[in-house]
Amino acid sequence: MTAAIVGVGSALPERAVPNSHFAAIGSSDEWIVKRTGIRQRHFLPEDGHLADLALAASRIALAQSGRTAREVGHVVVATTTPDRTTPGLAVEVAARLGADRAAAFDLHAACAGFVYALDHAVALIESGRARTVLVCGAEALTRITDHQDRSTAVLLGDGAGAVVVADLEPGPSVEPAFRLGSDGDLIPLLHADRYDRKLRMDGPEIFVQAVERMSEAARDVLARRELTAEDVDLFVAHQANARIVRAVGKELGVPPERLYLNVDRVANTSSASIPLALHQAWREGRLGPAGLLGVAGFGAGVTWGAGVIGWHLPDEDPGAPGPIGWHLPDGDPGAPGRR
Ligand code: ACO
Repeated sequence: MTAAIVGVGSALPERAVPNSHFAAIGSSDEWIVKRTGIRQRHFLPEDGHLADLALAASRIALAQSGRTAREVGHVVVATTTPDRTTPGLAVEVAARLGADRAAAFDLHAACAGFVYALDHAVALIESGRARTVLVCGAEALTRITDHQDRSTAVLLGDGAGAVVVADLEPGPSVEPAFRLGSDGDLIPLLHADRYDRKLRMDGPEIFVQAVERMSEAARDVLARRELTAEDVDLFVAHQANARIVRAVGKELGVPPERLYLNVDRVANTSSASIPLALHQAWREGRLGPAGLLGVAGFGAGVTWGAGVIGWHLPDEDPGAPGPIGWHLPDGDPGAPGRR
């Protein structure tokens, strides 16, 4: 029995915002593309609900997995921007998904949150405490963006992605492995505080740290499984910046065709970025029915993590909603007490 990814899904807000939007704060398409590779991002409306997006992504992942909501034992949502202070997003996603008997909680590890949550899901399955775990990454970074600060505003976007992790028999030949870490001495490099509430960042130093930490963790994981980067079928790093992702790929020796990039279309969506990229990769036919995935994340804290895990996915879309977009299935009543 081995834990593997058996379903992936994603959802984006309808509003796509091109780089030209930032001319008003002294930036340009040329600067943004050259320094980051970003061409557009999606913004959730100010009165939008992140739970809707998380739910849409989770529904797609669950449909793809062929599991029912009742089979889901745990729902973990990685987020730093939930709709409410309490409760978190996960309980609402679980209830509206129909996984109303599942344990449900939010996990906050900034942009490394999805990798942390995936490691947790694998540990639950390996320990026998769960057989099917839904892991979602969902962010509305626009809520903590200083929209007048060109050094951060151009980088960030909103979105959600989800995966279903389940035990497979027979499972993939490679057992999952993860390496996580943190260094709270580096909080000043990237933080949003209680009163200011907006993300403040030392961009160049974050760049250096992100490349070093993600590469180091990924190297450790590969060594632990006696693998090289060439054994990984697709490598999805946190989509902070195309230069960061390419630098990590180069450090590790990942062949360029196995290094996935979608930051051009969605910008940095923090803990949503890896599952969002994974679903887009699947839709583009970049994932075969089975393979080995490498992931690496890095974020405020600083926190970081990397892992390898096999996937087993259907060849064809099993009737999940059409093009990526904010999709609420018919008849969804919305959140309790919200409308
Ligand atoms: N448009 C135009 N000019 C800009 C912009 C902008 N959006 N932002 C900064 N500049 C200017 C600066 O003011 C500076 O001008 P100066 O030379 O006259 O002083 C110049 O561009 C160079 O600025 P740097 O910060 O040195 O540029 P750098 O090449 O380092 O690129 C960047 C900046 C893109 C932010 C890079 O450092 C980076 O990607 N860092 C990592 C960012 C990241 O991914 N953070 C994580 C995000 S937060 C999270 O994940 C939740």
